[in-house]
Amino acid sequence: MSHIQIQNLNKHYVDQRRLPRSEEDIRSERTIQVLDDINLEFQDGEMVCILGPSGCGKSTMLRMIAGFEHPSSGQVLINNEVVTKPRADSIFVFQHSGLLPWMTVWENVELGLRHLTDLEKKNKTIREYIEMVDLGRFGNHFPHQLSGGMLRRAELARALAVNPDTLIMDEPFSGLDFLTHMKVREEVVNMHEFIKKTTLVVTHDIDDALIMGDRVIVMSGRPSHVKLEHKLDFGRPRDLGSNPELRALRDEIFFMLGVSYAI
Ligand SMILES: Nc1ncnc2c1ncn2[C@@H]1O[C@H](COP(=O)(O)OP(=O)(O)O)[C@@H](O)[C@H]1O
Ligand SMILES: [Mg+2]
Repeated sequence: MSHIQIQNLNKHYVDQRRLPRSEEDIRSERTIQVLDDINLEFQDGEMVCILGPSGCGKSTMLRMIAGFEHPSSGQVLINNEVVTKPRADSIFVFQHSGLLPWMTVWENVELGLRHLTDLEKKNKTIREYIEMVDLGRFGNHFPHQLSGGMLRRAELARALAVNPDTLIMDEPFSGLDFLTHMKVREEVVNMHEFIKKTTLVVTHDIDDALIMGDRVIVMSGRPSHVKLEHKLDFGRPRDLGSNPELRALRDEIFFMLGVSYAI
């Protein structure tokens, strides 16, 4: 179970590019305010998609939820406990190129199951996850032998096998061609329907957010605050073309992100 609360979260970094040249510079602020008083809550089992302009602090926020970085002020709570350090058992950060190249797909998925001593159960679990992402015949392939989409699906199987309470995905479809992007997205949606883990997805693609999320969050440019939170109470699979409500929301978000003519 994983219930996440973000309370009055602020983050600033020292601006490394602006070197102090005078006494005045040293006294003046050389910090970049990235996040500005963020308050959010993610319910157990919810899939929330987070949109926002590039550089607004989405990855920074995810890193703080995962405990890799500390807030400047405010806090993140998971199940009412303040996050102070990474907790590999409960949160999995999905990232591409996360597979070890010298291990097969099977061995990579097995990595997350080292704690299982019952070999039969372990093998059954590995097989299940590999089959879930449709890679049943590729268990003994190495990452370099897989296509981009297969690789991303293998990474997904590896993430799921860990059975984390929370899955964090930062731009999970980046670098995929259009059709592969669609297919892997479908895979993630199916996976979510099936396992119902708390899943946070950062994406720059508005359609991804509207098709996948139980809720969508739009953040502003830096210093970033929450500009929009919208529940997406629609069944899946969703078709943006035939849903006027989603269509209108899509236009609104495009506009919010600075594009006046949604395509
Ligand atoms: N470790 C760091 N030190 C200094 N500045 C950083 C650091 N990490 C991120 N930033 C700055 O914080 C801002 C937000 O970064 P990031 O969270 O990666 O944005 P996003 O994921 O929304 O594109 C950027 O301007 C980036 O340059
Ligand atoms: Mg980012």
